[in-house]
Amino acid sequence: MSFSATILTLYPEMFPGPLGVSLSGDALARGLWSLEARNIRDHGLGRHRAVDDTPAGGGPGMVIRCDVLGAAIDAAVAQNDPRPRLLMSPRGRPLTQAYARELAAGPGVVIVCGRFEGVDERVIEARGLQEVSIGDYVLSGGEMAAMIVLDACVRLLPGVMGKEASGTEESFETNRLEYPHYTRPREWEGRSIPDVLLSGNHAAIERWRREESERITRERRPDLLTSERG
Ligand code: ADE
Repeated sequence: MSFSATILTLYPEMFPGPLGVSLSGDALARGLWSLEARNIRDHGLGRHRAVDDTPAGGGPGMVIRCDVLGAAIDAAVAQNDPRPRLLMSPRGRPLTQAYARELAAGPGVVIVCGRFEGVDERVIEARGLQEVSIGDYVLSGGEMAAMIVLDACVRLLPGVMGKEASGTEESFETNRLEYPHYTRPREWEGRSIPDVLLSGNHAAIERWRREESERITRERRPDLLTSERG
């Protein structure tokens, strides 16, 4: 059984989008994962298939109705479906490499994409939605955030990535940013490749890369050196 993703969205035409191209797209075509996007509006109310309403207590924006989203979830997901049900939201658990690894090791994900001001809290509770954030900024909807969660998971699935690329993410597992990379030509616009990388001395190369990783992490993301984030 491969990793299976079900997306609940008001814009199913946004999928697969970029996930249909390159690494994730090739893996999709090879059946290493599957993707289904369902329209929440199919469960909308009345002639206009309304999915949202004004917030109780007043205030700006619109809120996705619990009855509509509840029905959309129930139609898309069997009660005994083992996949975690995620809701993309800036108030959610931050997505990290460790969290992506955890999700990728499971049977797949059901992802609800919010729009408007938010989703009625009752459906979050009643359907056990786990809120996930991709960062401390606000997007206009959860769709692109869902794509980022899926991209981070799919590249970790067995058979998706050749072993030549897998080191890139191991560096994040050790809480260090990547060292600088170089390739031909040896000289370009007066800039050369650091001599050590051309020395053939593998121990020296490894040491240089480790030191550069530490320097760059210290300069750009000192928080990674002390945190448990992976
Ligand atoms: N929806 C809007 N902003 C978001 C964010 N930062 N993360 C996840 N979902 C979102």
